[in-house]
Amino acid sequence: MFEVLPPAKPDLILSIMQLFREDQRTNKIDVSVGVYKDEAGGTPIMPSVREAEKRLYAAQDTKTYLGILGDMAFNSAMADLALGSSVERARVAMAQAPGGSGALRVLADLLYAARPGAIVHAPDPTWANHVPLISTSGLTLKPYAYFDAATGGLRFDAMMADLGKAQAGDIVLLHGCCHNPTGADLDMEQWRAVSDLIVARGLLPLVDLAYAGLGNGLDADVAGLRHLAGRVPEMVVAVSCSKNFSVYRERVGAALVVAKNAQEAALAQGKMSLIARTMYSMPPDHGAACVRLILEDPALKAQWRGELDAMRARMQGLRQGLATALARHSNARDFSFVTRQTGMFSRLPLSEGQAERLRVDRAVYLVPDGRINIAGLTQANTEAFARAYVETQ
Ligand code: LMR
Repeated sequence: MFEVLPPAKPDLILSIMQLFREDQRTNKIDVSVGVYKDEAGGTPIMPSVREAEKRLYAAQDTKTYLGILGDMAFNSAMADLALGSSVERARVAMAQAPGGSGALRVLADLLYAARPGAIVHAPDPTWANHVPLISTSGLTLKPYAYFDAATGGLRFDAMMADLGKAQAGDIVLLHGCCHNPTGADLDMEQWRAVSDLIVARGLLPLVDLAYAGLGNGLDADVAGLRHLAGRVPEMVVAVSCSKNFSVYRERVGAALVVAKNAQEAALAQGKMSLIARTMYSMPPDHGAACVRLILEDPALKAQWRGELDAMRARMQGLRQGLATALARHSNARDFSFVTRQTGMFSRLPLSEGQAERLRVDRAVYLVPDGRINIAGLTQANTEAFARAYVETQ
């Protein structure tokens, strides 16, 4: 029966990660998939997570089911992290989910159930997986102007003009911080203007928060989201712990719904239970339990924040080094936008076939749209990367 199926198109980002693994060249550089790497090119388990795993191993005495919504103490910790005290907790519905992607899928199904015809306005560009992930639920995506390739910043006026045409009840997808794939974020003033527009037009924000702490610091990275949450009657947030706790394969995330009141929050939470039950029944426990242990223990939490700050500082240093190296190799062309962007990603202009030339001739792996994972660079290979980039243009 399976002969009727069309061959699956490989996932753009994950297939590059696989090609990199198979490459035998020792000087290879991987700036493709959004995974944090250290100066040695590895993705170690964070010491705070390791400590939480030890404590969990010692204390956990059962592997019986937790429940459809997962660990509610973990969910509350996610609401604290993302929303702080910006909204009354009684208005917040929560479901633990398998990673940020699982949270997005649960939320997309929830939104479709509540408003089947809704359009989701998504930044142009957005994370490649947003489109299939959200549209699988039945919602329709429509791009709004966002990134300005000429400046490496935002087309903010065009963004406001596009969102100004959205209809009441439409959904607006926003990246909480560290925009994937461009690294270009709204500043606080722009968050305020977007929040005003969302309120004025009666739109519903869907915020993807996957990199909190990796941009300008944990508090700064959620400040825009919290401002928005304090203004709107309703919104939904997909939180991922993959990057900021470095627990990628554990699939740790949460779906948060800010409802108008506690009654509607209960309805949303009930619907999320049904969605989860019919999709994966229950989320995995281990990673979320570790994250909860970290966030519940002030000393361990402080240790984790220190480790997260060190990751962020390393990437900021790499941004400086990369901008300088690119300028040096390209006859002083201006790459200072790399230092103004935040988080793991930047997007470099690529000529026709350049991604392929970089991979085949220089063992440099990146996504063909020019997105690079800054954390895939090291002090030692930034120079080689910059040279390869300029020479293959
Ligand atoms: C990325 O954007 O590279 C990461 O979020 C990994 C993924 O699943 O695409």
